[in-house]
Amino acid sequence: MDNSLFGVQNLDVIIVLGVLIGFGLMEVIAGYLSRTKRKSEDWIQEAGGFFALSVLIKPLMVGAVFLVGNLLFPSSLYGLAGWGLLLATCFYLFLDDLMQYWYHRSAHEYQFLWKLHRAHHQAEEMGFFVSYRNAGLYYLLMPNLWWVGICTFMGLGKGVALGLILKQIVIVTSHSTISYDKPMYKSKWLSPIISVLERIIITPAFHHSHHGKSMIDSVSDPNGNFGNMFSIWDQLFGTAKFVKEFPTDYGLQNDPEEHWTTSYFYPLVATDNKESEMSRGYVKRSTITNEPIEVKLEKGQKYLYCQCGKSKNAPFCDSSHQGSKIKPLLFVAKRTGTVRLCNCKKTGTSPFCDDSHLKLVDSGLPKVEKLEQVV
Ligand code: FES
Repeated sequence: MDNSLFGVQNLDVIIVLGVLIGFGLMEVIAGYLSRTKRKSEDWIQEAGGFFALSVLIKPLMVGAVFLVGNLLFPSSLYGLAGWGLLLATCFYLFLDDLMQYWYHRSAHEYQFLWKLHRAHHQAEEMGFFVSYRNAGLYYLLMPNLWWVGICTFMGLGKGVALGLILKQIVIVTSHSTISYDKPMYKSKWLSPIISVLERIIITPAFHHSHHGKSMIDSVSDPNGNFGNMFSIWDQLFGTAKFVKEFPTDYGLQNDPEEHWTTSYFYPLVATDNKESEMSRGYVKRSTITNEPIEVKLEKGQKYLYCQCGKSKNAPFCDSSHQGSKIKPLLFVAKRTGTVRLCNCKKTGTSPFCDDSHLKLVDSGLPKVEKLEQVV
C-alpha cells in the first residue's frame, strides 16, 4: 500500500522533525540557552523520551496492532482505504483527541497514572521538547498510540500522517517559549482572533496555564486545561480556563527531584527517598481533624485552601491533591485578622469553619494538636 502523503514518502516524519528543529532554533535565537536553568537530566529525559517513543514504543505498538489484527480481523486490513484524505484525517483526529483528553485528565485524577505523567510537570521551564517527558509506561498505556495502529491497519495511514503533522504543530507551539499568542492578547486588532482561535485549538496561554505551579497566581490551573489539540473538550466537560497571561512559576510544588531513571522507568524503578510519592509504599495520609485551624490572614492576600484533606501544611494547600479529582480553593482575605479555617472538610461556608465539626465529635478524628501524629 502506498503510504506517501502528497506524493512524498515519510512526509509526516520530515515535518514533525522540521517543526521540532525549527522551534528549537527559534528558542535558541530568542536567548533560551543563556536564560535556561535546565539540568542535563531534563535534556536526557526529553531527548531520550522522544527517541524511545519514535523509534521503539510507537513502532512496537503499531506492529502489535497489525499482528493481532491480521490474526483476528484479517478482512479489516485496509478495509477503509477508499476513504478520502479529509474524512480519514477528521475521523482519526476527532477520536484521537477525545481519547487523549480523557487519558490526560485521568493522569491528573488517579494516583497511578499521575506518577507516570508527573515528570511532564516537573519541568520548571516550558520548551519545544517538554511534551516528551513522561514515563515509558505512560505511552504504552496511551489509547491514542493504539489508535494510530488501528487506523493505519484499517487503511487510514495518510489521514493519520496528516493528523500527526497538525497535532505536532499545535503541541509544539503550545509548549514552546515562543508564544505566538502573547502579542495577540495585547493588540486591539488581534485579540478577537485569538479569542476565537483559543476556543478551537490549544494555544500557548491555555496550555501554559496547565503547566503553572500553583493556582495562587490566578493564571495557572494545573488541574484543568487538559486538551491536547482542541480546546472543545475542556469547554464541553467543564475544565477550561481561558487566560490572557502566563504563569509566574512552572513545575511542581515540593518537588523531590527524582533521578530520571525513576521518572522514566516507574514503577520498575522507584526512588529511595521516602518523602517522594515515587517511593515504594508511599501513602498520602489524611490530615483532617475535627477542629478548625486558626490562622492569621492579611487583607488583600491570596490563599489556597486545601480541600482534599491531605496537605501537610493544612489548612493550606501543599499540592498533595495531585493525582486526585480535588482542587484547592483560591480565596482573597477581605480583612486582616485571625480566622478559623475548616479542617474537618464538612463546612458549608468553605473555607471558613461553620462548626460542622461539632457533629463529628465521636468520629474518632484527631484534634488539631495531634495533627503532627496524623501526618
Ligand atoms: S493539598 Fe491541595 S487541595 Fe489539599
